[in-house]
Amino acid sequence: MLNLQFTTSLRKDRNLAPDELFLQYGLRLELVLLADSTILALTLKDGTTESGKGAFKFRGACNAVYSLDDEQAAKGVVTHSSGNHAAALALAAKLRGISSYIVIPKNAPKCKVENVLRYGGQVIWSENTMQAREDTASRVLEETGAVLLHPFNDGRIISGQGTISLELLEQVTHLDTLVVPISGGGLISGMAIAAKSINPSLKIFAAEPSGANDSALSKAAGQIVTLPSTDTVADGLRAFLGDLTWPVVRDLVDDVIVVEDNEIIDAMKLCYEILKVAVEPSGAIGLAAVLSDRFQKHPAWKDCNHIGIILSGGNVDLGVLWDSLRKP
Ligand SMILES: Cc1ncc(COP(=O)(O)O)c(C=O)c1O
Repeated sequence: MLNLQFTTSLRKDRNLAPDELFLQYGLRLELVLLADSTILALTLKDGTTESGKGAFKFRGACNAVYSLDDEQAAKGVVTHSSGNHAAALALAAKLRGISSYIVIPKNAPKCKVENVLRYGGQVIWSENTMQAREDTASRVLEETGAVLLHPFNDGRIISGQGTISLELLEQVTHLDTLVVPISGGGLISGMAIAAKSINPSLKIFAAEPSGANDSALSKAAGQIVTLPSTDTVADGLRAFLGDLTWPVVRDLVDDVIVVEDNEIIDAMKLCYEILKVAVEPSGAIGLAAVLSDRFQKHPAWKDCNHIGIILSGGNVDLGVLWDSLRKP
């Protein structure tokens, strides 16, 4: 069952004046603020724009937690995640009044771990590999009897993320293209299923870092490809596709645009300087993709006139920056 309480009832719109700096790319930009503060920005080549901001993972986590019956929920929920799903699940569990056990790899950003603790999640550390995360989660499951809620390979999570498309396309009806960050593929799967059921001709592009380009390789190979290791500034985009998300990515995602870390950082800077929104690297990658040569030379580019870019998260560790601003 979908919990849609947060969609339109809390909606706020905020219009930002288009900025000269974006015009130099031939784009104008405006924010559409969605209810849960999922950040969404739309760049429209014809010179109109819209935008918004938030934590999209809460949609899937909330949908999954509230889908459990009372008996299942009583034992709590378990997941493994390097950050945003972890915090979202801890918050959803807190709202339902149940325990959450969150397996976090040691390389997760500090601010994301702090969010989990703030929402009352119990942190269990694991080594960084996906195998280590899954093994630790299995052990916690056995010990607690809690329910596993996977960060992306779960129908309830995928459905919850899909509400972004419902809300976005309700607010901005003329979009012809969506550009969505991809990691395990839960976000883009939910969004693609919902968006294409509303408008089958809508084009969906995934944005992926070159240091974790398993989705692009999977599309090219026609089967799930995993990597021995990943290396990217986009810490939320290091997971690989699952058996539920892969068929959706294979069939409904038009293409994967791969970008370099320096392009992600440039896009993040534009978000801070011009939009005045806090976006983490994984959240800025869609904008990086739209500004990249790879996309602008793509055969589909000429038909992408009204592009919705999902700026999917704003949890960035700013410790180094704040420290550099302090006087000795
Ligand atoms: C900020 C951000 N954007 C996008 C994603 C991608 O989500 P998915 O794993 O569902 O593809 C993640 C995943 O953690 C994320 O943290």
